[in-house]
Parts: sequence; structure tokens; C-alpha cells
Amino acid sequence: MGRVAVLGVFVADLAFRADRMPVMGETLLGRSFAMNPGGKGSNQAVAAARMGAEVDMITRLGQDDFAQMAFALWQEAGITPHVTQDPDSYTGAAHIFIDASSGDNAIIIAPGAAAEITPEDLENNRAVIKSARVFMTQLEQPLDAAMHGLQIARDAGVTTILNPAPAAELPWEMLALCDYVTPNETETHSLCGVEVTDAASAQTACDALKNLGVARPLITMGAQGAYLDGVGLVPAVTAGDVVETTGAGDAFNGGFASCLARGMSPEEAVRMACAVAGLSVTRAGAAPSMPMRDEVLALLG
Ligand code: RIB
Repeated sequence: MGRVAVLGVFVADLAFRADRMPVMGETLLGRSFAMNPGGKGSNQAVAAARMGAEVDMITRLGQDDFAQMAFALWQEAGITPHVTQDPDSYTGAAHIFIDASSGDNAIIIAPGAAAEITPEDLENNRAVIKSARVFMTQLEQPLDAAMHGLQIARDAGVTTILNPAPAAELPWEMLALCDYVTPNETETHSLCGVEVTDAASAQTACDALKNLGVARPLITMGAQGAYLDGVGLVPAVTAGDVVETTGAGDAFNGGFASCLARGMSPEEAVRMACAVAGLSVTRAGAAPSMPMRDEVLALLG
């Protein structure tokens, strides 16, 4: 089993379940509130660890209660933290609106100390990245830091995964460092201008992303599944009623990275990742919704 090194952000998710979003100037009574560990990088690290990978997490935190929440989560999941704690900043938080009927979400994230992650932080963790089989990052921390991590991994022959979330336009120099780029439909549009609605348009987007330098695009398509270039549409795996979709993409990415680190083929890793995401949406919260490997294997039979 190879290691997975994750560069990313931890935040405390403050999740409000309500019938609709308030309009500007309005106060709305919600149905419930929950505070859970979140942040795309940390969620992906937890998903990978619960799928059996040995995981290293590279980030910055403040010195506060939310930082303690992060360390407790990672200890419970068996994740090795590589953290700089900034006494002058704070650990990030996210405001999450959850639509009570569909479980869909809308998010505002303030990354706090993680917004100050630098290329030097990655340089300080060069040995960690080089010892991994897979390096994975997202776009919640500064771009130059993500790019430096990808460069270190690429130079060392480590498989690189970029989950380009939140949506952004990216320089080709960054995309060219990625073995896999894993956008959802919205992020795909931001990257290459193609509207993904079905398998045919997903292939068009894959071709556009390859022209931008991505080695192998992997587009997540929600309830339809995921489209892996060279393979096609791998169908979604349903595990029950949808409770909350927050973190579903992270579940997919963490599951995919973990399976690649285990030495599985990309196609089989995508199939497993679809099951990880399928289970995660049947539960509330982001990090708490990540399933264990045994549950995933049981679901796939
Ligand atoms: O992908 C879901 C995550 O995005 C949430 O946990 C929230 O923290 C935001 O970072």
C-alpha cells in the first residue's frame, strides 16, 4: 500500500439546514445546525485514510479550538499531520447552506491560516511528498503552493491529482503537471469552456483538457457517475436516500487516490470512488460521512 500525500485546507463546517436560502436583508428560521470537520483537502485525506491508505496531510492552522478539532479528526483517522500553526491567524470555517429537501449545498469558505500556505511550506515537506505514491491537492489554498507541490511530486515520479475546486481558470503550466484532473461539470466549464451534460460532451471536455496539458481528465458528473478519459462513463453507485451532498466530491477524490496508491487500475479506482461518494451522500456532514473500506466493498459486492 503506497502513501497518499494531501496538500489542502481544514475548516470547521457550520452547516445550516433550511427550506431555502435567505434573500439579502432577510432572516430565516432554519431547521437545524451542525458543526463538523470539513475543508476539501482534509475531507479527501479522511476519505483516503478510511479506504485504507496511509495519509500525510500538509496544511496551516491557527492555534485555536478549530485546530484542536482538526488534530482530533486526523488522529482518529490515522492521518499524519504536517502542520504549521500560525498564532496570528485562525483556523478556517465554512458557512454551509443545506437545502432540506434535496440535500444540495451552497458554501462560503474562509480558509484562515491556510490562505497563507506558501511554496516554502511545500519545500519543507519535500521528503513527505517524494515518499508518497500519490500527491493530491485542490484550490482552496494559494495556487503557487499547489503548483509547487505538484512540481515536487512530478519531479519525483509521484502520481499527481488536482481536484480543481473551487472552480477557477488555471494556467497550462499547472495543468501540465497533473496526471489526473478531476473537475465536476461546473469546474470543467471554468477550465475549458465546455458544458458537460452527458458522455459525449464529457469526451469533448476531456479532449479540450488534454489540449491544455492534462494527462488524463476525470470528470465527476454527480448522479450520472464519473467520466474517465480512455474508459468512458463509469456509472454512479447508489447506496440509499440522499441526506447531504457536502463532501461527495471529496469522498470520490479521496477514494480514487487511495485505490491508485493501492495499485489498482484507474478504471477500477473510479468504480470504487463512485461507491465511496455514493455512501457519503447518505450521511450528514463532510468528513463524518466518509465510509470505511469494508462498507465500500460490501456495497459493491
Ligand atoms: O467539498 C466540501 C467542502 O468544501 C466542505 O467541507 C467545506 O468545508 C468546503 O471546503
